[in-house]
Amino acid sequence: MTAYFEINNLSVGFHTFEAIRPVLHIEHLAIQRGETYGLVGESGAGKTVLALTILGLLPKPASIIHSGEIWLDGQDLLKKSDQEMLTRYRGKRIAMIFQDPMSTLNPVFTVGEQISRVIETQKGLKGGATTQKALEMLEVVKLPDARRMLKKYPHELSGGQRQRVIIAMALACGAEFLIADEPTRNLDVTIQAGILKLMAELQQEFKMSVLFIANNVGLVNVVCKNAGILYQGKLVENGPSQQVIHSARHPYTQTLISAIPRDKSEKLKFASLAIKPEAPGGCPYYSRCPLAGQVCTLSEPPLEFVDGEQQAACFMAQRRDS
Ligand SMILES: Nc1ncnc2c1ncn2[C@@H]1O[C@H](COP(=O)(O)OP(=O)(O)O)[C@@H](O)[C@H]1O
Ligand SMILES: [Mg+2]
Repeated sequence: MTAYFEINNLSVGFHTFEAIRPVLHIEHLAIQRGETYGLVGESGAGKTVLALTILGLLPKPASIIHSGEIWLDGQDLLKKSDQEMLTRYRGKRIAMIFQDPMSTLNPVFTVGEQISRVIETQKGLKGGATTQKALEMLEVVKLPDARRMLKKYPHELSGGQRQRVIIAMALACGAEFLIADEPTRNLDVTIQAGILKLMAELQQEFKMSVLFIANNVGLVNVVCKNAGILYQGKLVENGPSQQVIHSARHPYTQTLISAIPRDKSEKLKFASLAIKPEAPGGCPYYSRCPLAGQVCTLSEPPLEFVDGEQQAACFMAQRRDS
């Protein structure tokens, strides 16, 4: 059975002066209808490149897509023309929340003007009906005093309020698939928790499928059924988020988890430092891995099932299971 959203064999690379630098290779990733999937990885792992590839927004001359498929509801997005992506997918069936709300909101227009423009272009409403819908959406995202909010400019809002406005705009276009790229990255912890709770509630209410991108593995078990860990453009662990978080099998996932402060008194632990040379042709995590052995220098471990639906790309994790 094909999933609602499915990636097969996707490779993305960038042209550099001398060569093509691969930045993303995903053999398989599936999201069912109405499911939230969490994608976690450190900065530079390729998360935003993936989001932009799905939306067809990678700068074309700079990028090459070697191969692959991105299926959304039975249609391969990589086969769609720019025009089709613009008129039928982006902002219509697929909405995106970027990590910095100020890059989405225009500083010279009020919140009301910006939400109304989305509603008018995507829903074809006009005048009073647009304002009514805009008010409704601001209430859905639990922004108090919605009428006053419509008249405000982005700089008059707090970071959390801005992100709620962006979520309202994403919902207003009625998209069925939402890509949220680190939506809480620049927010305080308490505000972050509020936005995550809102996203979980809205996902239930609107039955959207969501690709939730985070750089903190602690965020995904709040909202995600399944989660994947991206390292240097490849999934190194994948499966039910509870399993990935509570019984991580890949040493990189374990490092990410040990870096989550459990209470206020606990200081952030440092991720493992590079102590070994790279192993070309071997495991990409070799130089940082505390468990690495000789076998890890010989070939790259494939992503394999290690426990039920949980997969890990690690010879050590796979051995432990057998
Ligand atoms: N337009 C581009 N041209 C060349 N390299 C790029 C471009 N955009 C991103 N990259 C590279 O791709 C890799 C993944 O970046 P990105 O997806 O932004 O990471 P993340 O979102 O996980 O922090 C990085 O090494 C980055 O330098
Ligand atoms: Mg990013």
